[in-house]
Amino acid sequence: MHLCVIPGDGIGREVVPAALDVLRATGLPLEITEAEAGWECFQRTGTALPDTTLAAARAADAVLFGAVGSPSFPVPGYRSPIVALRKALDLYANIRPVRDHQPPLADHKRTSSSAIDGRSSVVDLVVVRENTEGMYAGRERLEDGGDTAIAERVITRRASARIVRAAFELARARLQAKSHQPKVTIVHKANVLRETCGLFRSTALQVASEYPDIAYEEMLVDNCALQLVQRPAHFDVIVTTNMFGDILSDVASYWGGGLGLAVSANLGEARALFEPVHGSAPDIAGRGIANPFAAIGCVALLLEWLAARPDASEPAALSAAASRIRAATAQIQASGPHTPDMGGTAHTTDITQAVIAALA
Ligand code: NAI
Ligand code: MG
Repeated sequence: MHLCVIPGDGIGREVVPAALDVLRATGLPLEITEAEAGWECFQRTGTALPDTTLAAARAADAVLFGAVGSPSFPVPGYRSPIVALRKALDLYANIRPVRDHQPPLADHKRTSSSAIDGRSSVVDLVVVRENTEGMYAGRERLEDGGDTAIAERVITRRASARIVRAAFELARARLQAKSHQPKVTIVHKANVLRETCGLFRSTALQVASEYPDIAYEEMLVDNCALQLVQRPAHFDVIVTTNMFGDILSDVASYWGGGLGLAVSANLGEARALFEPVHGSAPDIAGRGIANPFAAIGCVALLLEWLAARPDASEPAALSAAASRIRAATAQIQASGPHTPDMGGTAHTTDITQAVIAALA
């Protein structure tokens, strides 16, 4: 397998090497092209996403991405390279699964979802986020001598239809894999954003009618944020536009043990990029305490995606390696060591070494 690996900035450079160590330990044949992107790259070279990186991403079987740090102030010529990369590779579906963390994390971090929900229930949901348009289309400008800032939110029927279809296909696949009835929650704010969310909503309902075997519901985004906190086990597949999905997936990640464990797949028709949900975490970068489980989980997802491709070579070996990584990470998540975000005192490398030992 040929991977393009983009560690990026901050803890991206700590968790991606950890995930690669775990991948190498599976013994799978591996060819890696390392490429750069991000704020540091921009400062050094004047571009946040070099053409060589884009070419390397296109040439590889899949991309493993860490995180990039983007300043919260405008910088001429700078645009978030991950947003640009998703768009350039047409990775339109951002799939963000969250499973109840077992065993529950240290009590100071959270109460179990069952307790909050008031019944025995498990969180097992997926946020399916549109990845190419919406509020992140990059259409912003200043007017009025800089006193008015305008962002254009772009919603198209085509992008809405394909992301909602991806959500329903995922729900159908989950129907086959699970005992309970799957459900798609279509999240929007069409009561206020009548044209943009209105188009997303009407397109989504049209697609839903093509899937009579899959239940669905609509939910306004603000209520969805509350329900994700109050009744997370209510959800199965959530499909929504770009920025809503970005925010809701951070909320949802809490139930899976927080950002240190949250994984995501960015999928297009033939390409895929896997990345932790978290960012470059400047508050802990360089201290060696970043949680590598999200990045390691991304490697497992990546192997599963490669194994499922119609032209996969040695799919059984890829799936077996993914299962071994999942089993080893589950074991270490249960037993420790843990990094500080999970209530422990271990370092990134301690987790990596423990996972590799558990693989054997
Ligand atoms: P963040 O995800 O980097 O961090 C949020 C909080 O979670 C921080 O307290 C951090 O220490 C903690 N955290 C995140 N990942 C962790 C891990 N693996 N282990 C332990 N703790 C972890 O989000 P924040 O602070 O809002 O943004 C920081 C930078 O990251 C910004 O420049 C932002 O633009 C960028 N960012 C990049 C993303 C990407 O590359 N896909 C996604 C989100 C933010
Ligand atoms: Mg985010």
